Amino acid sequence: MRGGRMQVKRLEQRLAECENAVVCSLSMLLDLKDLNTGLHATRLAEWAVRVGELLDLSPRELRDIENASLLHDIGKIGVAEEILKKPGRLTREEYEAVKKHAEFGWAILRKIPSLEDASLLVLHHHERVDGRGYPSGLVGEQIPLGARIVAVVDAFDAMLSSRSYRDGLGVTESLRRLEESAGTQFDARIVKLFVRLARGEVEEISSLTQSAA
Ligand SMILES: [Fe+2]
Repeated sequence: MRGGRMQVKRLEQRLAECENAVVCSLSMLLDLKDLNTGLHATRLAEWAVRVGELLDLSPRELRDIENASLLHDIGKIGVAEEILKKPGRLTREEYEAVKKHAEFGWAILRKIPSLEDASLLVLHHHERVDGRGYPSGLVGEQIPLGARIVAVVDAFDAMLSSRSYRDGLGVTESLRRLEESAGTQFDARIVKLFVRLARGEVEEISSLTQSAA
């Protein structure tokens, strides 16, 4: 029972943090399905918004980026749990099933008027600037700017977080890998802004994860 009470407390905390009720509810759903597996989702959204601010984006664009950061993996609700939680390498078919989450997320969010633009960022959050991403294989600036920002922050979180099959990489190594993939996987300008921002907070970020920098 104690676990249940703790979870309710966590959900209440999350509710207090969210402004948009729909985004908040969907984000809670991700928490309950254990799909927010990395750092605290609102923390990631905050970084994405700060990168957007450095790029002088409008308040509307910043809100879309915040919402897309919070909900980018909502489509994983449509992917079989045994695939999402599978330790080790996925088969080709399993990977194809995981890739579907980008389109599922777009389909879930596009019908909500206030999230229509954010849904496009969700759709494209796994594109790569070299065109080798999914679902559309968009290249460089064809990829919505907000989606390029979410991609960087999401990848950083994934590298930093421990999964069932490996330990997190630590802040320094995660940032190094982001820089290594700047210009191929990620938008180089966004990596530069994000790395500068994260380097200023290495100790704080390390304390949010089990692994050391
Ligand atoms: Fe994703």
